[in-house]
Amino acid sequence: MSDTDSSSPHATDAPPRKPRVAIVFGGRSSEHAVSCATAAGVMQAIDRDVYDILPIGIAKDGRWVLASGDSGALELSPGHVPEVDGSGAGVLIPLSTTERSLSILEPGAPPRALGEVDVVFPLLHGPFGEDGTIQGLLELADIRYVGSGVLASAVMMDKHYMKVVFAGHGLAIGPYVVITDRDWQRDPVASMDAVASLGWPVFVKPARAGSSMGITKVSEPAALQAAIEFAREHDPKVIVEAGIVGRELECGVLEGRDGAAARTSEVGEIEVVRGHDFYDFEAKYLAESDVELSCPAKVPDHVADEVRRVAAAAFDAAGCEGLARVDCFYTEHGDVILNEINTMPGFTPQSMFPRVWAATGLDYRELINELIQLALARRTGLR
Ligand SMILES: Nc1ncnc2c1ncn2[C@@H]1O[C@H](COP(=O)(O)OP(=O)(O)O)[C@@H](O)[C@H]1O
Ligand SMILES: [Mg+2]
Repeated sequence: MSDTDSSSPHATDAPPRKPRVAIVFGGRSSEHAVSCATAAGVMQAIDRDVYDILPIGIAKDGRWVLASGDSGALELSPGHVPEVDGSGAGVLIPLSTTERSLSILEPGAPPRALGEVDVVFPLLHGPFGEDGTIQGLLELADIRYVGSGVLASAVMMDKHYMKVVFAGHGLAIGPYVVITDRDWQRDPVASMDAVASLGWPVFVKPARAGSSMGITKVSEPAALQAAIEFAREHDPKVIVEAGIVGRELECGVLEGRDGAAARTSEVGEIEVVRGHDFYDFEAKYLAESDVELSCPAKVPDHVADEVRRVAAAAFDAAGCEGLARVDCFYTEHGDVILNEINTMPGFTPQSMFPRVWAATGLDYRELINELIQLALARRTGLR
């Protein structure tokens, strides 16, 4: 943040420039619309007295464009699925670590400097956003960004490797079977036999997706093949998990300031109250009255403490930075079992992550500020 820090030895009498935050949203994943909705929420709430913002949309074909920042057009509702219009002026991030300015590309004109950004807020969910790819691009350009780095983002995007890391750190996870593209091409019957050992029901999932996209709850062998093929439409790598009977408890984690331990939030609970087999895409975004989000969850203190302990341990095990939401099952036997970590959780004001932090005393605007400050304080690269 040296170029914006008024106490730097190079400070002049000119008023310090506000940190410039690029809000990057949309993207190539199936969670494009969810990302737009998240960006709408953040752009409405971010404190413009403190930060300048530069909205950058990524169209579904991967084109980076200068976006309008009109948050109304980005909201997600049953009648409106927002999308980045890729026809706007293109945006290029710096091609080297010495050339700090982003550039704007308009048809028939040479690239124009768009100025530097101090931090990128990659409000992207799913592959090509939450999975280490954009983090790698920003590392190459030596630009700070909110959230986890390349490795943690990539590993936590893949539900298989996520479990390998959790198990390696002694954290409780449920039984599962992985079906790679190669396994399925070679011998689908053997893959399905392996699944049968889990018992029923099972949850069939694309290994790398989110927002419940491509997930099916399967209660009998006859429905398994179609569910695997459906998951493969999202990712050729599939994970099948034993169904866990339990309540869904979620906890927000924020990186500690100045190297301190990770901070955990109050615990929230998701309850699907009607009409859905599980917490599916419709329940998440389109039929909100079918779901109850409560925070603090009505569980005994020792259970909430255990969820927080597991959440912080999972965040550390994964090497996460910035923020994460850790999702657990609390079983009827009293066990807390990890379901997943989201390194860029849903972030509209109604989403669980902001809500658990609001219940912990950090409102939406303060939370956005905290995330940007954590990113600004961070070093880039391996330094
Ligand atoms: N093993 C499981 N047992 C019971 N329910 C599950 C299991 N896995 C997933 N679910 C249900 O499906 C939802 C979505 O699964 P999840 O793995 O969290 O995928 P996503 O990354 O898309 O959010 C969960 O919130 C839960 O309702
Ligand atoms: Mg989930």
